[in-house]
Amino acid sequence: MRPIVIAGNWKMNNDIAQTAELINALKAAKKTSSAAVIVCPPFTSLQAASLLLAGSGIALGAQDVSLHDSGAYTGEVSLAMLKSAGCSYVIVGHSERRQYHGETDAVINQKAKKVLAGGLIPIVCIGETLQEREQGVTATVLTTQTTGVLAGIPAADVEKLIVAYEPVWAIGTGKTATKEQAEEAHRLIRSVIAKLYSSGTAEKVVIQYGGSVKPENAKELLTQKNIDGALVGGACLKADSFLGIINAA
Ligand code: 13P
Repeated sequence: MRPIVIAGNWKMNNDIAQTAELINALKAAKKTSSAAVIVCPPFTSLQAASLLLAGSGIALGAQDVSLHDSGAYTGEVSLAMLKSAGCSYVIVGHSERRQYHGETDAVINQKAKKVLAGGLIPIVCIGETLQEREQGVTATVLTTQTTGVLAGIPAADVEKLIVAYEPVWAIGTGKTATKEQAEEAHRLIRSVIAKLYSSGTAEKVVIQYGGSVKPENAKELLTQKNIDGALVGGACLKADSFLGIINAA
């Protein structure tokens, strides 16, 4: 049985005071849940979040990591720094990193390997654009991306990582993939992993859905056979709606 994993990607939202407010509200209202919960604040809030989360059962993740270990890379943050700030997860290859920072499957693959080598868990994002879906090439795109981001990662590590399927057209648009569209994509991604590794490995990989997940649609998505969690953007910025999704899980 795969666990259900709900992660909140705060993107570029919340200063330190707002971080404390949101985390305290989450902690105060969070019931015991069988779902694993992760919050991914911006870099500047990580350490404050880590201290506030101690003992809460909520894990901490970062939204990106540098490919480099240290040195003259202005503006970058290394894996060792994320570790020392208390992170145990790192989102890599979010579509906004692909779109605004030119990240390719090859770069994302390197970042995933770096995170795994450091003992943290990467949440590796893939997903087709609206144009690709309309052209009918979703399956090809997802196959290429899955193959590219996992290249050279041994099965034992693939079983630990999380894949996040985020159709770009559903991110921040209020347009959620239907449960059928999402399940079809998840099934395809799992079948690609089975071909690359084995069905045993594919069955162990947690595949999250992301794109306009809300308390109202979380349950129908999370009850699909191949959907093992959610990567939540907008709805994770309010304690009520994030908790609504966690409770739906
Ligand atoms: P929204 O939930 O705002 O659509 O964002 C999804 C996302 O990009 C999470 O990484």
